[in-house]
Amino acid sequence: MKKLSAAELKSANALHLLHPMAHPGSVRDLPPDIITRGDGSWIWDVDGHRLIDGIGGLWCANLGFGRREIRDAIVAQLDELPFFNTFRGTTHPRAIELSQRLVALMSPDGVGSIFFSCGGSDAVEGALKLARQYWKLRGQGDRTKFISLRQGYHGTHFGGASVNGNTAFRRAYEPLLPGCFHVDTPWLYRNPYTQDPHELGRICAELLEREIVFQGPDTVAAFIAEPVQGAGGVIVPPPNYWPLVREVCDKHGVLLIADEVVTGFGRTGHLFGTRLWGVNADMWCLAKGISSGYIPLGATAVSAKVIAHFNAGDPVLGAINHGYTYGAHPVAAAAALATLEVLEREQIPARAAREGEYFLARLQAMQKRFRLVGDVRGVGLMAGIELVADKAKRTPFPRGAPELVRVQREAYARGAMIRLSGAVIILSPALTIERSQIDTLCDALEGAFAAVEA
Ligand SMILES: Cc1ncc(COP(=O)(O)O)c(C=O)c1O
Repeated sequence: MKKLSAAELKSANALHLLHPMAHPGSVRDLPPDIITRGDGSWIWDVDGHRLIDGIGGLWCANLGFGRREIRDAIVAQLDELPFFNTFRGTTHPRAIELSQRLVALMSPDGVGSIFFSCGGSDAVEGALKLARQYWKLRGQGDRTKFISLRQGYHGTHFGGASVNGNTAFRRAYEPLLPGCFHVDTPWLYRNPYTQDPHELGRICAELLEREIVFQGPDTVAAFIAEPVQGAGGVIVPPPNYWPLVREVCDKHGVLLIADEVVTGFGRTGHLFGTRLWGVNADMWCLAKGISSGYIPLGATAVSAKVIAHFNAGDPVLGAINHGYTYGAHPVAAAAALATLEVLEREQIPARAAREGEYFLARLQAMQKRFRLVGDVRGVGLMAGIELVADKAKRTPFPRGAPELVRVQREAYARGAMIRLSGAVIILSPALTIERSQIDTLCDALEGAFAAVEA
C-alpha cells in the first residue's frame, strides 16, 4: 500500500480522523503531532524532529520503544496462533500462562484470578460488573451503588464515565449510570479543609465514610479509586489515606477497587500502587503497562476471597456473562508475558523509584524558580506540574488558556513531548528512561517556562 507523504498525512488527518478528547474543529486549528517512529525514550515526528517522549505514549510504553523481546514474542505468537477466544468452551496457552504469571505476582496482594479484556476502560467495566454480581451472589442484591473520587479518571465506558470525577468526560454523555456518587479527593494543593497532609487524609476518609452511611451501607457495592490519580492531575494522596479507606470499606462491607491502569507495573516505584500504600484491594484494574502499550490488553484482577463466592455460588447467577472477543488476545498476552519478564529481570519498579527521585527533585527546583509553576507533585516516574495564573493566590489557568498551549509548543520545539490535562503538565516517561534523557526533558521544560514567562 502506498504510504502517504508528510503533507498528505497532515491534510488527511484533519479530514478523516476523529480524535478522542478533542473537538473535531480544533484538530484543524491546532493539528496534532504526527509521530512516526520510536526508539527507547526517543520519538520522531513526521517532519523528522526528534523528541524525548515525556508521556510514555500515554502512560503505557513503560519499557520504551523498540524492545526486541516484546517484538519477538509478538511475531512468534502471530506465527503460532494469531487468535483464539477464551469464551466458555475454549482457551489458549498464552492466556493461561499470563493468568498464572499475574496471580503469582499478585498473590502477596491476595489476588486469586484474572479476567482479561482489551484495555483500561474494559478493566474498570469488568470490576464494576463483577462487584455488583458479587453482592447478588452473597444475597445482598441491594448493594448496587458505586462511590468514587472527584478528579478521578476511570476510562470512558458508561460505567467508567459514571464514576469519573471530571464533568468534562461526563456532560455530553449524561444521563450516566444511576447510583454513582462522588466524594472529595485528598488533594493537598486545592482543598477547603487543611494544608496538613495527615489531617487531610483523615478528613477525606471520613467524607467517604459519611457518604457510605448516608447512602446506606447495605446499598453500596464498591468504592473505586486510583492509588495515585493520573489524568486528574497526578494527585498523590497523603500516606494515611488508603489505609484509612481500607478500614472504612471493611467496616461497612464495601468492596475496594483499585484502578491501577496507570499505577500498575512499576509506575510509582512499586509493582502496584496499592503496595505503595501497604493496602490490599478486592479488585485491581490493569492495562497500559501490562503489555508496555505494544498491543492493547486489559485485566481485572480479583482477590481470592471475592472469587471464592463465584466458585461456590449459584451456577446460573455465578456465570460471568461479560467479556470481549479480543480479551486475552493471544498476541497481547504474549506481549504481556515478555513485558513481565523484562520488568522482573531489569527490576523496573526499583529503577522507577530511583530515577523518579531525581526527576522529581529537578521538577521541584522549577517550582521555586518559575512563577508559572504553582505545584509540582508525583511519585516514582509519574509527575504533574500545575501551572497557575497567580502563584500566591493559586489562581488556576482556565482550560485552553494561551499560556498553556505556549508552554507545550515551546517544550516541543526544545525536544520534549509533554501532555496537558487542564492546567497540569502530565509527565509519565518510560520507566527505562535514562538519566541524561531526564535531563534533556527537564532542560526543555525549563526553557519553555523561561520563554513563556519572558
Ligand atoms: C486510571 C485509568 N483508568 C482507566 C483508564 C482507561 O483506559 P483505556 O484508555 O485503556 O480504556 C485510564 C486511561 O488513561 C486511566 O488512566
